[in-house]
Amino acid sequence: MHITKIKLIRFRNYETLDLQIKDPGLNIIYGKNAQGKTNLLEAVHICANGKSFRVRSDSKTIKEGSDKAYISVEYSKSGRKNTAEVLIGRDRRKSFKQNGIPVQTMKEMLGHLLVVVFSPEDIKTAKESPGLRRAFLDGEISKIRPSYVDALKKYGAIIAQKNAAIRKSRGKDVSEILRAFNVQLKEYIRVILKNRRVYMEKLNEYVQKTHSVISGGKEKIEAAYRQTIREDDIEGQLEALIEREQREFSCVAGPHRDDVEFMINGRAAQEYASQGQLRTMMLSLKIACLHILGDSAGHKPVLLLDDVFSELDADRKASLLKSIAGLQTFITTTGGTELTQGTGIRVTAGQAKVTNKKIKGKS
Ligand SMILES: Nc1ncnc2c1ncn2[C@@H]1O[C@H](COP(=O)(O)OP(=O)(O)OP(=O)(O)O)[C@@H](O)[C@H]1O
Ligand SMILES: [Mg+2]
Repeated sequence: MHITKIKLIRFRNYETLDLQIKDPGLNIIYGKNAQGKTNLLEAVHICANGKSFRVRSDSKTIKEGSDKAYISVEYSKSGRKNTAEVLIGRDRRKSFKQNGIPVQTMKEMLGHLLVVVFSPEDIKTAKESPGLRRAFLDGEISKIRPSYVDALKKYGAIIAQKNAAIRKSRGKDVSEILRAFNVQLKEYIRVILKNRRVYMEKLNEYVQKTHSVISGGKEKIEAAYRQTIREDDIEGQLEALIEREQREFSCVAGPHRDDVEFMINGRAAQEYASQGQLRTMMLSLKIACLHILGDSAGHKPVLLLDDVFSELDADRKASLLKSIAGLQTFITTTGGTELTQGTGIRVTAGQAKVTNKKIKGKS
């Protein structure tokens, strides 16, 4: 699928924008700092995924002094024209439309315009807490299996209740109560672990391919799921934990405590990898996720790359471009000098213009 038009009204630093996108391949969004390059990617992301990838509260994206912002993205899917629209209000209300028809919930908004974003923030997934890695995995699985979201939510709610029951016990034996929670938990644990296992298998398969291209065959990446409960005899394992849980006053094992470990050439990336290696690794993982989503949807998603070129050497840049051939991609950059392919979109102070020529030489 590819985007053909982006319209903005009072979004971030844009007053109005009506931008025709002509290239179903590589689009380079270029310009100086603070001009509105990332804002453009953010707008597309909100239209596709119902929320920003930069801020929690979307009302921050409304242009200062205005009370609402509007985004419309036209895209072509199997040769047909589609439109996704979002109206963002100050009162935290958002309303969505797909092909002109109002969509009631964000869930219904998903799965139409498919985009995958990579931003400098994503490097945190590799470096920081296990919670971020679980969120990454859960987010990707949710895109292809909406029912997974329900299992996760229910599991999380029961874990919260079970934790509360353990804490309230104040040393009293509450094993009977915990056993009752465990009966409810086991099915959700089974569903979550199975989905994560299946997803990890696909992720590993795709990431090898992508990463060997981007790293010029120099690196091998593996993503290993580190689980605290095995998939067989879940109830027996939960039973064996009851005593420890009462001693430690919390649910000590389960999908909420699991982690994903990324390895580069057999070594833990978190402790060993350089900035550029981590960035390339996360980029390869995101591109792998894009292909998994594409397989499941039957359409290749659009790739949004925010500022990927900083920290990548010339070889990795060239290999990256090779690895995304065939996908519509929007890349923001302050440079442009090294890019000899793609269509340029120049952004200056909340104005964006297709420069209508392949970028060559200085921007
Ligand atoms: N709600 C808003 N209303 C008006 N302007 C805003 C709003 N939010 C952000 N801006 C402005 O948008 C400008 C551009 O932001 P953006 O992040 O898109 O820049 P950029 O071109 O990606 O820059 P960089 O190269 O530094 O990443 C900033 O100067 C910021 O002050
Ligand atoms: Mg930016």
